[in-house]
Amino acid sequence: MPRLITLSRATRLVGVKRGALQRKIREGELRTFEGEILLTDLLHSYPQAEVEDNSMLERVEQIMEQAVNKIIRPANDSPDSGALAARILGLSQELATARHEARRLAGVINGLQNRFNALDADDTLPDDAFSTLKQWFTKALATEADDELETDEIFAKEVFLRVMAAQVRILPSSHEFLLEGSDSILEAGLRCGLALDYGCSNGNCGKCKAKLVSGQIKKINQHDYVLTEAEKGLGYFLACSCTAVTDVVLEADEALGSQDIPLQDIDIRVRKIDRPDDRVVILQAKTPRTNRLRFLAGQYLTLKIADLPPRDCSISSCPCDDMNLQFQVPVIAGDRFTEYLAGSAHANDVINVQGPRGDFALNEESSRSLVFIAGNAGFGPIKSLIEHAMALDIAEDIYLAWITTDDNSHYLGNLCRSWADALDNFHYSALQAENETSVEGLLPEITGKLGSLDQYDYYVCTPEPLLAPVQSFLTKNGAPESQVHVEPLR
Ligand code: FES
Repeated sequence: MPRLITLSRATRLVGVKRGALQRKIREGELRTFEGEILLTDLLHSYPQAEVEDNSMLERVEQIMEQAVNKIIRPANDSPDSGALAARILGLSQELATARHEARRLAGVINGLQNRFNALDADDTLPDDAFSTLKQWFTKALATEADDELETDEIFAKEVFLRVMAAQVRILPSSHEFLLEGSDSILEAGLRCGLALDYGCSNGNCGKCKAKLVSGQIKKINQHDYVLTEAEKGLGYFLACSCTAVTDVVLEADEALGSQDIPLQDIDIRVRKIDRPDDRVVILQAKTPRTNRLRFLAGQYLTLKIADLPPRDCSISSCPCDDMNLQFQVPVIAGDRFTEYLAGSAHANDVINVQGPRGDFALNEESSRSLVFIAGNAGFGPIKSLIEHAMALDIAEDIYLAWITTDDNSHYLGNLCRSWADALDNFHYSALQAENETSVEGLLPEITGKLGSLDQYDYYVCTPEPLLAPVQSFLTKNGAPESQVHVEPLR
């Protein structure tokens, strides 16, 4: 029986990014059936897939873990026993059905073979038609057996993945992700880059209410929010308090843009201050566990510290980790806010944040490859967008060009190189301009690698004076205006 699998599971099986599979689908190499692909097609496209060798997959996952600052999972983070039992029961039922079907087909094949033999021995038949047919049948049987051997291992691994991770499909968007361990549906969805609706993350507000369409879920956290009996009867549940036991389909609201993200007012605490060079401060801060920040990658917040004048700062971390925030703040001589951060701030200091604001966000409906251009500390919001794009895994190729001027440095160059080393579809260029006026001269070096510029979405964050020249260069050379998104360095 042909086995269909989702793209999420296929990427895990052969250890490639989703974009690579989408390219093969577009080129006709992989056939899709309602969004799923045939396991046998996958194996033909990736015959070199070493199903026992997970090194590439592990390497990519490791870099993704570091890239998106994921919370370190406990060593033994497997699904709970109830979820495992339900998944194994489901597989056992499938296995029983498959065995029954296999026995039935084996009987048909044996019967056919006996009849061929009888006809072959019948001298009264005039020609060798039956003999030719029998030869074909014998050969076909042998070929089929070889193919089965080839697919056995990948089939076994696919079954293992189904036991260890449940597939969650969200309606109406059809977004899908894998839920591993005993994560809540909300946690797993956020980690995979989805902008699911939520508020408190701990069962108080009811904003993560979703409706189960099919599959089985399980409550993992008690919650104070009360669902009415009528709601329960219709299948409503809280995504922050339940995990998926089997593959599930559910209806849930997702933010479609910045207009769907509420303004928030939260006191966060400084966790760490880094000074990678004289020109920038990296501030790491934590929200309260019960009051996390909901935002879109690329947005900014207004930070207020004691009696200092408030300051708008872009968030440079990924929304998939809504408790641990990062800001890359350019140091301005004589500016009290940045001087305080650079010299006097300590761990546990309280900073009030209000927001988020801004529309510098990924166009998630686009399937085009992505080009990011950062200027100096404009790398901050670009980093947030890149990590979000990685979590979503929708772009076929990602290009990052980081231009620095004057005495600025590529202060997180190692991180960019590690992305490029780990991900086949990530391309990084570090460019140094003598000053702001010589930046334009570097742009052909960036676009020269891209071919036709209308094939990409562009996200540019640089100091304000550089934005217009970069934008105009891109549009003059063929990038449609609607595909060029710009943000000044805040
Ligand atoms: S996010 Fe508040 S109840 Fe789930």
